[in-house]
Amino acid sequence: MKILGIETSCDETAAAVVQNGTDILSNVVVSQIDIFAEYGGVIPEVAARSHLEAMMPVVKKALKDANCTWDDIDAIAVTHAPGLLGSLLIGTLTARTLAILHHKPLYAVHHLKSHVYANWLNGVPRDGFIRFPILALVVSGGHTQILYMPAHNQFEIIGTTHDDAVGECFDKVAKILGLPYPGGPSIAKAAEKGNPDKYKLPHPRVENLDFSFSGLKTAVLRAVQKELNLPISHPSHDLKNHLSDQQVADFSASFQKTAVDILCEKLDLALAQHPEVKSIVLAGGVSANEALRKALPRAFSPAPYLSGDNGAMVAAAAYYEIESGVKSTDPYSLNIYPRISIENK
Ligand SMILES: Nc1ncnc2c1ncn2[C@@H]1O[C@H](COP(=O)(O)OP(=O)(O)OP(=O)(O)O)[C@@H](O)[C@H]1O
Ligand SMILES: [Mg+2]
Repeated sequence: MKILGIETSCDETAAAVVQNGTDILSNVVVSQIDIFAEYGGVIPEVAARSHLEAMMPVVKKALKDANCTWDDIDAIAVTHAPGLLGSLLIGTLTARTLAILHHKPLYAVHHLKSHVYANWLNGVPRDGFIRFPILALVVSGGHTQILYMPAHNQFEIIGTTHDDAVGECFDKVAKILGLPYPGGPSIAKAAEKGNPDKYKLPHPRVENLDFSFSGLKTAVLRAVQKELNLPISHPSHDLKNHLSDQQVADFSASFQKTAVDILCEKLDLALAQHPEVKSIVLAGGVSANEALRKALPRAFSPAPYLSGDNGAMVAAAAYYEIESGVKSTDPYSLNIYPRISIENK
């Protein structure tokens, strides 16, 4: 079964053709990173306009790269939740129109489900190796959650962040340190030359399996001000002008180590509460982080180029929805849900 997956939930316009939920026949991602690097973050209206321009060329290239015509495509899958409203609208309206025009069944997929199913991609016969029940650590730009998966397409949120997502925290700390957007890869690179034990940063006191990352960002801000002997009233956007390259590297390494430790502590706690778990998977953009991968050698993780937003993971998630008996959706009435939880979808 060949599925065309379409993804536009944030600032990547993406489409891919995937066979049987694992084999990537094409994977086209047009990133708007260059546009938003200038602003240090995503501007929703600009993102939506860029999706509109890129969407159809991206779909056409995905079909061409896969050597497919519309006759070869068995179904269309699209991200309809959660994400930026305008961005979700462009992807879903495109998928709805294409489904109607080409008489294809349409599947509406939750974005976090797609990030999780990126682990089944790449033609590797992973299905035999990733065994249920699974714990999925979702670490992305907008989410930080621990999901319990007893079987395909079944998700229970057993831990979630009370405030910022870990990826968001990487991005905000990078901004303080004067590192380019997106912050995650910039911090990881700077950290290579830094001492992870140079600055002691606090772990948040959050009950059970939940997270909090907004305090860590503030802790870095205060530590930078202290290191520079500047008052807490000093504007955060100016601090970077006073930091040496070595200080940036040391703050990056210390922050990254703390963030990874926090994630690992909660995952350990989750494993202690669920000893029946057979596999751990990482999901979302932060799963590309080498330090996190090294700290969790037991965990499966997507190939780094599949950890960020892409259409292939949408197609993979739809494949396992179909396998689990989920019915296609009505292309005339499909709606978007910018904030809905994975448990309600
Ligand atoms: N190597 C890395 N180390 C740490 N963080 C990273 C790395 N690579 C990417 N990231 C972070 O991953 C995030 C982007 O991931 P992703 O595309 O999954 O998020 P999103 O789609 O914006 O949010 P969501 O999936 O929650 O809707 C950014 O915050 C980015 O800084
Ligand atoms: Mg994402």
